[in-house]
Amino acid sequence: MPETILVTRPAPGVGLITLNRPKALNALNQQVLAEVTEAAAELDRDREIGAIVLTGSAKAFAAGADIKEMQPQSFSDVYAADWFAGWDALTRVRTPLIAAVAGYALGGGCELAMMCDVLLAADTAKFGQPEITLGVIPGMGGSQRLTRAVGKAKAMDLCLTGRMMDVEEAERAGLVSRIVPAGSLLDEALATAEKIAGMSTPAAMMAKEAVNRAFETGLTEGILFERRVFHGTFATADQKEGMAAFTEKRKPTFTNC
Ligand code: HXC
Repeated sequence: MPETILVTRPAPGVGLITLNRPKALNALNQQVLAEVTEAAAELDRDREIGAIVLTGSAKAFAAGADIKEMQPQSFSDVYAADWFAGWDALTRVRTPLIAAVAGYALGGGCELAMMCDVLLAADTAKFGQPEITLGVIPGMGGSQRLTRAVGKAKAMDLCLTGRMMDVEEAERAGLVSRIVPAGSLLDEALATAEKIAGMSTPAAMMAKEAVNRAFETGLTEGILFERRVFHGTFATADQKEGMAAFTEKRKPTFTNC
């Protein structure tokens, strides 16, 4: 049984992972890494699940990697263990992942939110990469994903000063999909997850894969990849059903085939 997270299935087709280390503001230690990646992989393998929500508490999505755990480590310790490489497993999850962020999303917390596909933020959310204030740099993809999300100018500002940005600035910069009132964050996240889970699961996975290609490749390669995957959707029954339903002016019934 996991000790640092809660895993539930609050609605049909929806998995929910809640970070649960409130005393440490959900700091991401090695146990959290193992439990989140295992829970996400298990939900990903479940063909009944069409979307996964990852959330924290009202005060903190996650205040970063666990500084107390990192403090005694030497260079050779972190290098030999390839510290943080385990988080890459989350980026191999093919089911759409929705981050529901309230409060602090700092350092590894911001990086974890950026590993998700849709980022819903409460009006209380604060984002930042304060690693520089600890004498280190982002170690879970922040320098790369933040730069791709908000551009060089703001990524440099955040990574070099360690300052936090509020949710309006984060949305203006393109980091956040949508801002919602803190009180309805989870409801909105679950409704979004249910909506995605109600789509053709293969089409949703393909859309996720194609958008992510924009992050991984150049434009020409990315557009070719998108076109080939688009062609592939014509091998599914859901494409036949979706287009037939449109022409017949009715709601589609997807079978995820
Ligand atoms: C371990 C943490 C923690 C963290 C908070 N806590 N953040 N423990 N790792 N990242 C603990 C505190 O030590 C404290 O425990 C408890 O949580 C509550 O925190 P407070 O500081 O008392 O709360 P508050 O005054 O409200 O301030 C909130 C905060 C502050 C602004 C978020 O906690 C903070 O600045 N945290 C560190 C943020 C940070 O630097 N993150 C980046 C980490 S490095 P006790 O036991 O004292 O009550 C990283 C990437 C590393 O993420 C990759 C490169 C190697």
